[in-house]
Amino acid sequence: METTHRVFVGDSRDLAAIDDDSVELVVTSPPYPMIEMWDDLFTRLDPAIGDALEVGDGRRAFDAMHAQLDRVWDELERVLVDGGIACINVGDATRSVDDSFRVYANHARVLEAFESRGFDPLPDVLWRKPANSAAKFMGSGMIPPNAYVTLEHEYVLVFRKGGESRSFEPGADRRYEAAYFWEERNRWFTDVWTDVRGELQALSDDHDDLRNRSAAYPLEIPYRLICMYSAYGDTVLDPFWGTGTTTLAAMCAGRNSVGSELESSFLEVFDDRLDEVPALSRSVGRRRLERHREFVTRRREEGKSFEYRAANYETPVVTKMERNLQLREVAAVDTLEDADEGTDDRSTDEAAADANAVHGYRAEHAPLTLE
Ligand SMILES: C[S@@+](CC[C@H](N)C(=O)[O-])C[C@H]1O[C@@H](n2cnc3c(N)ncnc32)[C@H](O)[C@@H]1O
Repeated sequence: METTHRVFVGDSRDLAAIDDDSVELVVTSPPYPMIEMWDDLFTRLDPAIGDALEVGDGRRAFDAMHAQLDRVWDELERVLVDGGIACINVGDATRSVDDSFRVYANHARVLEAFESRGFDPLPDVLWRKPANSAAKFMGSGMIPPNAYVTLEHEYVLVFRKGGESRSFEPGADRRYEAAYFWEERNRWFTDVWTDVRGELQALSDDHDDLRNRSAAYPLEIPYRLICMYSAYGDTVLDPFWGTGTTTLAAMCAGRNSVGSELESSFLEVFDDRLDEVPALSRSVGRRRLERHREFVTRRREEGKSFEYRAANYETPVVTKMERNLQLREVAAVDTLEDADEGTDDRSTDEAAADANAVHGYRAEHAPLTLE
């Protein structure tokens, strides 16, 4: 099996290179409005944002930043198939503007934006980041009432485009082979994730500075979401691609991907990590199988039995739906030379002048084994 992965260097407020109804899942994390590290970026997108911050009008800056994200949400509405899912990882911001401290509720504003575009909100996930230290608390120390709660969670907002779920032909292999284990369902479909950090880290630490600058999320977040909300053969879009964690997760999960990112330097980071993808995908898949075996042992120790056996792995499973589960590993990744082909309406000259605008990759996948 083969998957393809394309990344556009460009502005996701216009995703003209991506066809209507061509994406089954969106997994992304935008720059968070009112978090200072993104002020310059938002001001580049709309100079009025810098002006609003300068005069201490936090509310106007917040609205203007979300107006930029809204243009990307418009594009998602166009490229997602009916019944397709959008998972938006976003955190709220706390900030003092003009000497007044408050929270800017990004999650509520993004929820409103998707609802007004006809998406149905689905139950969301809170993911809890690890607590740092006692020094994190803000406000008036041990004296009431002017201290503030420290935000240590982010949201994964989940939306479905349109009122109806996607349908598949009965017994569709690409859906049943993408099944997850029963105990994974119990962990993943829980509304508070406390077990994310440190679980699946990408291998290389060489580019930690750039990863920090892009506010990269842990691989586990997009990997889980991709396994939860897409089938083999599907395409996952990340319009705020950063260092490409979503594409890395899509490769590990055996799905196609497409991304768009303003900063071309982030793409170089990704290219440097390509050699590591086969080993990463193997370790991610094997860890899932090992955890399943640990679960089988625990369940047997509790005196419970299993009714079904997996067809592709030497292991029992709890439900009939898990029987055809088939994990895949990346055997090899190549860079596509002709990634530009057919992606837009530009003349050859224009495309040649912009040779770095599209990066393409092809991943070859093999069934994952434990040996
Ligand atoms: C929070 S970061 C995403 C990090 C990413 N999830 C990762 O793991 O590396 C947001 C990214 O969106 C990019 N960005 C912001 N506005 C954009 C736009 N209009 N079009 C394309 N990319 C944009 C930023 O450059 C930044 O890399």
